[in-house]
Amino acid sequence: MEKIQKMIEENVVWLIVLTFLTISVAMLVEILPLMFSKSVTKPIDGVKPYTALQLAGRDVYIREGCYNCHSQMIRPFRAETERYGHYSVGGESVYDHPFQWGSKRTGPDLARVGGRYSNEWHYAHLINPRDVVPESNMPAFPWLAANLVDAELVPKKMAALRKVGVPYSDEDIAGAAKAVEGKTEMDAVIAYLQGLGLALKNKR
Ligand code: HEC
Repeated sequence: MEKIQKMIEENVVWLIVLTFLTISVAMLVEILPLMFSKSVTKPIDGVKPYTALQLAGRDVYIREGCYNCHSQMIRPFRAETERYGHYSVGGESVYDHPFQWGSKRTGPDLARVGGRYSNEWHYAHLINPRDVVPESNMPAFPWLAANLVDAELVPKKMAALRKVGVPYSDEDIAGAAKAVEGKTEMDAVIAYLQGLGLALKNKR
């Protein structure tokens, strides 16, 4: 045994080859079963692809770095489910490319924020969070109300998402530009937030 250990530790080629082998096997065992598991590849009831406006809002969410302060991943612990609702399941994220689970919570988790506040609340909050939550340290995003959604880009994004398995129909894509015409980035990000987590909203 000692001999083998000596050989591996003193010969860099063996060390590289065996490390590589160990990691490869570990990855296969962890990742391969997930690729075929229905619990993470099939959407749960009530999960639909984002509408054109929600999709535009999701990209605003990513561009503005909201994920740096907000997770979208409720862990299966009592302290989390009491506060936010049903824990997150894989079947909720199948149309998310890339997912927005995040890892940092300067602000609260947003996985089930859909329907928790009115559109007017979100509007006021994003223009200036202090107007509705005086102690808030969230930055203000007033420019969202002034920027229009790029209507030409949305159908292209939908076509790209279709290539990776999001079931948009030709009509969805053809109607996308019209659906976001004249809408602001504020409208879009609010539509996105209001759709989050509804599938398991009233379950615990
Ligand atoms: C620097 C960190 C930070 C960033 C970036 C940030 N937030 Fe927040 N957010 C917070 C904090 C802190 C709170 C809690 C206080 C409050 O409600 O304003 C919060 C609260 C919220 C809430 C209310 C959640 C609830 O359940 O009460 C929403 C919705 C929200 N943020 C959306 C966004 C969106 C959308 C963006 C990006 C455009 C964003 N946040 C960017 C820190 C941040």
